[in-house]
Amino acid sequence: MSADTPLTLLGGLSAADFLRDYWQKAPLLIRGAFPDFDNPLSPDELAGLACEDNVEARLVEEQGPEGAWQVSHGPFDDRTFARLPEHDWTLLVQAVDHYVPDVAALLEEFSFLPRWRLDDIMVSYAPPGGSVGPHVDQYDVFLVQGSGQRHWQLGGKVADDAPIIKGIDLRILQTFDIDPDHDWVLEPGDMLYLPPGWAHHGVSQSDDCMTYSVGFRAPSADEAITSFADYLGEQQPASKRYSDAGMPPSTDPGELDSAALERMRALILDTIDDPAQLAQWFGRVMTQPKYVDQLAPSDTPTPEDELVTALQEGDILVTAPGSRFAWHAISADRATLFADGDGIECDLALAQDIAGRNEFDASLLDHPDAPRVLVKLVDAGSLGWPVTDDEWDEEEDHD
Ligand code: SIN
Ligand code: CO
Repeated sequence: MSADTPLTLLGGLSAADFLRDYWQKAPLLIRGAFPDFDNPLSPDELAGLACEDNVEARLVEEQGPEGAWQVSHGPFDDRTFARLPEHDWTLLVQAVDHYVPDVAALLEEFSFLPRWRLDDIMVSYAPPGGSVGPHVDQYDVFLVQGSGQRHWQLGGKVADDAPIIKGIDLRILQTFDIDPDHDWVLEPGDMLYLPPGWAHHGVSQSDDCMTYSVGFRAPSADEAITSFADYLGEQQPASKRYSDAGMPPSTDPGELDSAALERMRALILDTIDDPAQLAQWFGRVMTQPKYVDQLAPSDTPTPEDELVTALQEGDILVTAPGSRFAWHAISADRATLFADGDGIECDLALAQDIAGRNEFDASLLDHPDAPRVLVKLVDAGSLGWPVTDDEWDEEEDHD
C-alpha cells in the first residue's frame, strides 16, 4: 500500500495527507474509522483485568467517598465495583494490548507511523456522566470509541502553565473554553485524533461507554538530555576532561573567563555530537518496555542447537506481549536490532525481519547469524515459545 492510498481509518485521507496536515498539528474527527467495529472487550472483562496484579488500573470518581475527583489505583476487587454508583466514574486500564491479542491487533491499523512511537492502548469504561475531567495530554492519541457513546469537547491548544485544579490527584484544567466547532458525540467505530497539548473533555453518554486510547511516546527534552548524558557518560574515559593547555596567565585568578567557558562548552558539545552513539541510545530508549518487570528472561542460557532444532521441527517463536523492536542500518548489510532497551548488531535483513513480525518459523534461519540473535532474544525474554492450551491448563492447576 502506498502512502497516498486513501484510508478508511483516516476518513479517506491518505497517510501522507494525514501526516502533512494533522499529525502533531490539529485534531481530526473520523466518523466510521473502524466500520462495524467489533468491540474486543466487554466492561466486565475490563473490570476483570483491573483486578489482576501487575495490571496498571485507575478508578476516577467524580464524587468519591474521600472527595471530589478521587483517584484510586488497582488491583481492585469485587467490593470496589459493588460500591460504585450508577454514574460519574471511570475505570482506566493501561497497556491492554499487552494482555488481549484482539486489542493488540488494533495497532496494525497504525502501521503508517513508526512502531517505536507507539506506547500502548489504554481502555476506559464509564457509566453515564463518567469522565476524567477537562485536561491536556502531552502525547498524540487516537481515541477510538469501542462501544456506547462519548461526548467529546475540545478547548484548543493550551499553554504548558495553564492553571490546574489544586488539591486533587488529577491534572484537571481550571478553565476550559469549549470550541463549538469541536463538539461531537462519538459512536462505536468513530475515532478522534488529538495532537499533544490540546485541551479535551470526554463524558460518557451511555452505560456501555468504552474508549480505546492509542497513545504515543515522545521523550521530553528534559528526559532525553539526562538519559543521553547518562548513556554517553558511562563510556567516557576518566582522562577525557576539562583541559586548558596553552592558556595565557590569569590577570585576575578569581575570574571565570569566557575562554574557560568556551573550553567547557567545546568539551560537552564535542562529546555529545556523536550520531552513531545517538542512534544506539535512541533505539534503546524507544524500545524500553513499558513494564520492564513483565519480561521473563531465561534462568539458563538456551543452547543454539536446541533452538534451531525446535524451529526446524515446526515450533514457532513469538514476540513476548509488550516487547518492542526497532532496527537501524549501520552499513549496507549490517544493523543494530533494538529489542526491549538493548541493541544487538546483526545482519540487516534479519533485523528488519525480526522487527517487522510477531511470529517466527524456521524460515528465519535462512538469515546469516539468526541462531545467535534468536538465542539472545529468547534468553532476554523478548521472544518465547507460545504456551499451548494444555500447558496453560496445567499452569492454572498448579497455581
Ligand atoms: C477516557 O478514556 O476516559 C479518557 C481518555 C483521555 O482523555 O485521554
Ligand atoms: Co486525555
